[in-house]
Amino acid sequence: MGCGTGLVGQYLHDDGFRNIVGLDASPGMLKEAETTKPGVHKELVELFLGSPSTYPENLQGRFDVVTASGILADNHLDNSVFEEMLLSLKNGGLAIFATRTEYLEKYSYGPYMKKLEDEGRWKLIKNIKFGRYDSQKERVGRFNPTEAQAFCYQKI
Ligand SMILES: C[S@@+](CC[C@H](N)C(=O)[O-])C[C@H]1O[C@@H](n2cnc3c(N)ncnc32)[C@H](O)[C@@H]1O
Repeated sequence: MGCGTGLVGQYLHDDGFRNIVGLDASPGMLKEAETTKPGVHKELVELFLGSPSTYPENLQGRFDVVTASGILADNHLDNSVFEEMLLSLKNGGLAIFATRTEYLEKYSYGPYMKKLEDEGRWKLIKNIKFGRYDSQKERVGRFNPTEAQAFCYQKI
C-alpha cells in the first residue's frame, strides 16, 4: 500500500516474493515503479487509499501479506488504512507496516490499532523499534533523528 517507486517491492522481490501487487494514488510513482523496477510487481494499481466503504472488491480478501512503509506519515493516511489492510487480507494474513513512534499518538494510529486488537479483528505478532535518520546531524524539514516502529499483525 503506497508502493511509491517500488523500493519495498524490490526488497520483497529480492527475497523471493513473486506475486506482488503495488497500490498507489500517484500515476507518476506507479510509472516510475514500472520503468525503474521492471518485473518486480505483478500488477500496479492506481488507487487513492482512505475510503474503506468503496474499497475495490477485486482487492478484498486477496492477500497473504500487506505492507505499508512511508504512508503512515504526515499528510498521508488516517486510521482508515487499517480497515483497508484488513479488507485486503485473507483470514490469517499479515499486515506489516512502519511508522514513527510520535505518529502513533499524533494521528491516533496507536489507539486504533489497539481497538482492532481489543475487538479481536487482528492480533499483534511482532513489534520492533528502530532509529530513523540517525546519521543526520541537523534537522532537514521533518527529517530529524527519531524513533520509529514496525508492526506485524495477523488478521483473525
Ligand atoms: C514515501 S512514499 C512510499 C514509498 C514506498 N513504500 C516504496 O517502497 O517505495 C509514499 C507514497 O504514498 C503514496 N500515497 C500517499 N497518500 C496516499 C493515498 N491516500 N492513497 C494511496 N497512496 C498514497 C504516495 O503517492 C507515495 O508514493
